[in-house]
Amino acid sequence: MSEIRICGYRPLSGEINVQGSKNGVLPMLAASLLQRGTMRFTNVPIIQDVACMVGILESVGCRCWFGRNVLSVDASGILGTEIPKADVKKMRSSILVMGALLGRMGKAGAWYPGGCSIGSRPVDLHLLAFSGLGACVKEEDGRIEAWGRMEGGRILFPFPSVGATENALLASVMAAGETEICGAAKEPEVIGLCSLLRQMGALIEGDGTDRIRIKGGRELHETEYAVPGDRIAAGTYLTAVTAAGGDAVLWGAPWESMETVIRSLRGCGADIEPIIGVGGTVAGAHIRMEGRPKPARIRTGPYPEFPTDLQSPMLSVLSLAEGESVLTETVFEARFKTAGELVKMGADISVSGNQAMIRGRERLSGTRVRAWDLRGGAALVAAGLAASGETVIEDCIHIERGYEDICRDFQFLGGDICWSA
Ligand code: EPZ
Repeated sequence: MSEIRICGYRPLSGEINVQGSKNGVLPMLAASLLQRGTMRFTNVPIIQDVACMVGILESVGCRCWFGRNVLSVDASGILGTEIPKADVKKMRSSILVMGALLGRMGKAGAWYPGGCSIGSRPVDLHLLAFSGLGACVKEEDGRIEAWGRMEGGRILFPFPSVGATENALLASVMAAGETEICGAAKEPEVIGLCSLLRQMGALIEGDGTDRIRIKGGRELHETEYAVPGDRIAAGTYLTAVTAAGGDAVLWGAPWESMETVIRSLRGCGADIEPIIGVGGTVAGAHIRMEGRPKPARIRTGPYPEFPTDLQSPMLSVLSLAEGESVLTETVFEARFKTAGELVKMGADISVSGNQAMIRGRERLSGTRVRAWDLRGGAALVAAGLAASGETVIEDCIHIERGYEDICRDFQFLGGDICWSA
């Protein structure tokens, strides 16, 4: 398994380009199945999860080809409706292909998805959406099948699930009639998917609110789309500079979708400002940080609350804060595994239920730690860059799923970090 080696305790300074959004591009690639031409995506992150999604699209008959961060998908000849079990187990968002196949082909087969070990991660809300659109759904021995002619309907989510909202959108745009999704997720990735679907010819209103309305049944067409910057990758780099100190520019950081994260890190003492580009648009973020972070009380939640995906990186920041902090996780029930790894580095963290109490320490010490999941691994990179001595992170395969090259990016910021083994 790949490892990352870091010699920390030096401020980070320099400039990096923020990659395209992993959680934005994955549902967009699934949406390619809803048209019979060729989609062209730019600013696509070159990460394991994109490679996995490309493999799934090719297994049902798409032709895909990659240029430099440009990915084209020819979906003119869809043959299959079965998502390979190996792919599904590797990546949870493979379940998004079900909604698109249901919309295009009227049937789809998959398996209970894998994903990060951050909780049980059921798919009941995805299946509720398919049933709400008139599909028959069968679950047996871990396998899921859905079939039927999609008809507009009313879908009521008890929790604003990002993936289930995206699956409901993918299945309903082809459904005859009107669909209303109540209790919809408001994440920027949902808004991005709706923006792409509208550009393909779909009639969708209300994205960004908890009530999305779709007028389905229209023929969708090919288009070209630029994947937005990854707000979680950008947030990861901001937490690392807040923990280690320094002065960095993140070109392409999606400022408008990072309000809560920026407010929280400013509260910890980071000076973060937008970089205004040509025509007054925000071209990126500039962060400066000196000294130890201030403590904070942070609660994760559905957008626009603090993103659960930055909970672990925030643990690294608060492990060095001048005082006591509290971090409450309300989205996933088992997302504090990284706390135990930070304790190996000298952090003082106690977890009880969905709450972590962090007593900030003046310094963390490098040692051998393990990445339990994607964002937990990124959090350990941030901690290693701030810690004195050498940190070796094992099982970094998780990190490669979501970050193009986290070592490359932090090397651009002057970090003494490299892949090893
Ligand atoms: C998406 O996962 C993201 N993944 C996650 O990012 C992110 O943490 C999550 O949204 C929340 O923002 C992608 O977009 C590929 P959910 P998703 O459905 O869609 C429960 C990362 O690190 N739930 O909003 O799976 C679920 O168990 C990843 O990039 C059900 O109970 O998240 C969880 O407690 C990790 N039944 C909560 O809802 C369902 O059918 C939120 O899950 C679906 C979800």
